[in-house]
Amino acid sequence: MAVVDESGALRTHEDAAVAVVDGAVAAVGPTDAVTSEYDPAEADVALDARGKAVIPGFVDSHTHALFAGDRADEFAAKLRGKTYQEILAEGGGILRTVRAVREADPDALLANLLQQLDTMLSYGTTTVEVKSGYGLDTETELAMLGAVRRADDQHPVDVVATFMGAHAVPEGRDADDYVDEVVEEQLPAVAKQGVAEFCDVFCEEGVFSVEGSRRVLEAGREHGLTPKVHAEEFVHLGGARLAAEVGAASADHLLHATDEDAEALVDAGVVPVLLPGTAFSLGADYADPDPFLDRGAPVAVATDLNPNCYSQSMPFAVALACVGMGMTPAEALVGATRNGALAIDRDDGRGTLRQGTPGDLCVLDAPSHVHVPYNFGVNPVEAVLKDGRLVHG
Ligand code: NIG
Ligand code: FE
Repeated sequence: MAVVDESGALRTHEDAAVAVVDGAVAAVGPTDAVTSEYDPAEADVALDARGKAVIPGFVDSHTHALFAGDRADEFAAKLRGKTYQEILAEGGGILRTVRAVREADPDALLANLLQQLDTMLSYGTTTVEVKSGYGLDTETELAMLGAVRRADDQHPVDVVATFMGAHAVPEGRDADDYVDEVVEEQLPAVAKQGVAEFCDVFCEEGVFSVEGSRRVLEAGREHGLTPKVHAEEFVHLGGARLAAEVGAASADHLLHATDEDAEALVDAGVVPVLLPGTAFSLGADYADPDPFLDRGAPVAVATDLNPNCYSQSMPFAVALACVGMGMTPAEALVGATRNGALAIDRDDGRGTLRQGTPGDLCVLDAPSHVHVPYNFGVNPVEAVLKDGRLVHG
């Protein structure tokens, strides 16, 4: 069994068992000790995991899992040399997904998200953050966040909502003018409905400047939404510094972050969220985790599921974090569990397996957590428990 302790260290226990009572972990430890206190014969569910590894459920802390339409042709064009920014500048990319989401009815949006959640759950995700940002107008942003809330109500996976009205500048609009709309119209409407916990912004050359992003995040903060930043993804612009200055929960992507950025983020207690699937699907250089790891930062690893990075699989993100970014299997696994929970401000111990933490765990069809990245390209997850209930497998 691989458990993550409070300090974020991964510990493995051989011949171990876990007991979950009323949705929370009641005991983790040697099989004899646990089963003498909690008799498996009297349990509602008893799983024999002999020869298999048990790990905490994955916490996917950065996704755009709610969308409509298809961008497979853009993927093919990128392989032939077209860049992400060229596609966006031509009205494709995010803007194309915006058109599809605006045309979709609310039930179809919900159905799409539920389907994504089913897939994520089958790959071991028990908590996921989902961003809006394919509406770019008040009505559609609220429709997206409404679907996120309904999905959270209906699906076993816990779904955490982030408002991202500042995901792209709508076609034909001026960026400053659109920031005014986000601040004056979208944010107050989102806050009034209480449908988001975080506010994120795509701080990037050709999208939102540092100053525009700051306006959005500070306004979000005034409405009770905690900031997050898409920072230093394609160029180095200053989004990481901004994240530190506004006290963001996380700064995400960080492909072009500098040592100074790492220092500022660590000093401000901002969680660095690395998204190796994005670099993989763009054919870009991976983010460097070392400036963060060397400073003791809780580096999180997430999928970034979106139509440009079409993977629901946390095991695949873990494999890429190891092979592409040089993280150890233990670092990547902690990044995909406990540190993901920190990136979304969950302080109930989810992403670890300790007495009192939520009973969210995966049984792997593999003998150790190292097999998650080692046996890449297949699904290592055999069964998933959410709050102690068997929800997959
Ligand atoms: O995190 N970079 C901005 N947002 C997403 C991509 C969204 C899209 O292309 O639809 C990301 O990679
Ligand atoms: Fe993103």
